Amino acid sequence: DNAIKKSMPLFGKKVMVTAGPTYEVIDPVRFIGNHSSGKMGFAIADELVKLGADVTLVAGPTSLQADKTLKRINVVSALDMFNACTSIFSETDITVMCAAVADYRPKTVANQKIKKQDGDFILELEKTTDILASLGKSKKSNQILVGFALETNDEENYAKGKLEKKNLDLVVLNSLNDKGAGFKSDTNKITIFNKALEKTAFELKSKAEVAKDICEAILKITK
Ligand code: CTP
Ligand code: CA
Repeated sequence: DNAIKKSMPLFGKKVMVTAGPTYEVIDPVRFIGNHSSGKMGFAIADELVKLGADVTLVAGPTSLQADKTLKRINVVSALDMFNACTSIFSETDITVMCAAVADYRPKTVANQKIKKQDGDFILELEKTTDILASLGKSKKSNQILVGFALETNDEENYAKGKLEKKNLDLVVLNSLNDKGAGFKSDTNKITIFNKALEKTAFELKSKAEVAKDICEAILKITK
């Protein structure tokens, strides 16, 4: 009931979580995507619901089902996700940007299926907007912004660089070098850096357990 809800640690907090890949259309039958399953972001969204937050999940293409009580906005492309995120960001207290957003999209979209030709095919790509960096620019002092860093090499330096460049409060490092970590897996191994660049390294765990660790780190800095 209400008294129990009010005693939950994130009661009354508006939270946005993004999850999954984005698909960038090439022509009516093809797209550029990535291996993100959405599992990590969905686990975080579910955990935030359990903590009492008012959660909006912005989800790229995935067949996953989230907690039925949260608000879900389905998107396809990086541009769709940018539009969804920017339209609600100013009202959110906490944002967790877990989606694997495409960095590039085809410069033009073909209306008809592109037919194969003799020889090679060159597809011109243009940069997408960095959603997280853009949210970081408009972030107010009472808002918490959490980003991810997916790395294969020089992981900690890249992660800390993203924390600073994108004006984050926490960065969650996902190293693809860790066995059992990453995209399709049900487990993950993360390291979190806070604004003071203090490092917390976690063991390999289920994504549900990793979500709890991430939420605990968020609770520690929640105003
Ligand atoms: N991100 C985003 N919009 C993009 C690209 C990335 O919001 N167009 C966010 C991701 O959701 C993630 C963080 O930025 O929270 C880091 O993503 P990552 O791919 O690790 O880093 P990039 O900054 O894109 O740099 P690179 O891929 O070159 O390592
Ligand atoms: Ca990227």
